[in-house]
Amino acid sequence: MLRQPWQQPRGSERVPADDEPGTIHALLLANEAAEPPVALAVGMLQPTTANQGQVRFMAVAPEAAGTGLGRRIMAALEAQARAAGLTEIVLHSREAAVGFYQRLGYTVVEPSHTLFGVIPHFLMRKQL
Ligand SMILES: CC(C)(COP(=O)(O)OP(=O)(O)OC[C@H]1O[C@@H](n2cnc3c(N)ncnc32)[C@H](O)[C@@H]1OP(=O)(O)O)[C@@H](O)C(=O)NCCC(=O)NCCS
Repeated sequence: MLRQPWQQPRGSERVPADDEPGTIHALLLANEAAEPPVALAVGMLQPTTANQGQVRFMAVAPEAAGTGLGRRIMAALEAQARAAGLTEIVLHSREAAVGFYQRLGYTVVEPSHTLFGVIPHFLMRKQL
């Protein structure tokens, strides 16, 4: 969901910030006992300043989309962000996901980059 549709290699969804102290990861598994584990939804939050974090690498498995998992991932990241003392979250949303983030209280600040040359993104923001 994050990379394969644009022929980006497995592993290119990983960034150095994944392992930095302060980065928050959220993961929902289909069944906690399943081996190997099957991820249904993921998201991460990277602190960008003393009071701001950025949500990145947010995705829900296609078969589970529209069932509230995206909302749960964002709620978990926001709760952890508040607990860490952050007061604002920003993110760069794909055009197709802007409505999702608006439902969760985010507002568009301005158009941002175009990923892989084809996916327009919008900078969005929410005060916690
Ligand atoms: C966008 C995405 C994260 C949404 O997750 P989801 O689990 O399907 O969303 P939820 O079921 O939690 O939906 C929460 C609310 O947002 C709405 N919503 C979900 N996706 C939406 C969309 N693309 N546009 C507008 N509204 C949307 C739902 O209808 C629901 O509204 P409700 O409050 O009336 O019930 C998911 O579909 C996805 O991974 N898409 C592909 C990858 C992607 O775009 N990632 C984001 C990169 S910035």
